[in-house]
Amino acid sequence: MGNSSNGDHEKHSFAPQIVMVLVLMLSTTVHGAHHFDNSFQQTFGGERVKTYGSRGDHLSLSLDQYSGSGFASKKDYLFGRFDMQMKLVAGNSAGTVTTLYLQSDPSTGRHDEIDFEFLGNVSGQPYTLHTNVFGEGKGSREQQFRLWFDPTKNYHTYSIVWNSRLIMFLVDEIPIRVFVNHEKHGVPFLKKQPMKLYSSLWEADDWATQGGLVKTDWSKAPFTAYYRNYNIDTERNGHWWNHDLDATGRRRLRWVQRYYMIYNYCKDANRFPQGYPTECKHYRF
Ligand SMILES: *[C@@H]1O[C@H](CO)[C@@H](O)[C@H](O)[C@H]1NC(C)=O
Repeated sequence: MGNSSNGDHEKHSFAPQIVMVLVLMLSTTVHGAHHFDNSFQQTFGGERVKTYGSRGDHLSLSLDQYSGSGFASKKDYLFGRFDMQMKLVAGNSAGTVTTLYLQSDPSTGRHDEIDFEFLGNVSGQPYTLHTNVFGEGKGSREQQFRLWFDPTKNYHTYSIVWNSRLIMFLVDEIPIRVFVNHEKHGVPFLKKQPMKLYSSLWEADDWATQGGLVKTDWSKAPFTAYYRNYNIDTERNGHWWNHDLDATGRRRLRWVQRYYMIYNYCKDANRFPQGYPTECKHYRF
């Protein structure tokens, strides 16, 4: 863990945030004009995928009774930091699922995957943020969260940091989940297969809404989710490459896990009568 600046972070806990804001402002000026069409292509949904804005730096996905929609990066990446600003389907979004994920070639049968999935809800009720990590085809590592804001009112930044030591999920720079490389304990880590960044909006009311109790209200269609300011950083000397949890990060992660986590496979005894998965036994946070 940690680099020599950890102590500083604890003592002057505002300084890193100011630095972070400056870094973000700089990176927005440098990379902010990213046109979605430069880096992404549509995966399904035809006209339901739209890029707009003077520089094509906004994108929307929509879902109706006939189809959802999605896009994927043109390139594959082996490690990186992936940021996307998203504004989720507003109003009655029950049965809709908006995703942001990295996935290796699914046809290998032993695919790797890192998932954010936002499960909609009836008006006024909270979204569920569902996360999962698949390593060489093995998943079933769900953790679910509530958000501490309404994700349909404004854009928020959802990020995945993926390096050789860990996978971190962040919401507005706050780490909500960390999956540490436990290869030394025999748990496959995602590091052999490059992945593409995907996003989609689709309908899954049988799965997403309390076991199908609430149906998607198609009279509200089309449902729309909005995207802007994506950033993909693969510079091996970038900050994310050495990104590890400092004291502030650990404190924030504990805060989220304590007050906003609603499901953790590592605590679900009924599911693992033979004992918890190996990575749960080495869970550090
Ligand atoms: C929808 O809201 C209800 C009530 O707050 C909650 O119990 C349920 O988990 C929510 N469903 C989803 C998919 O987030």
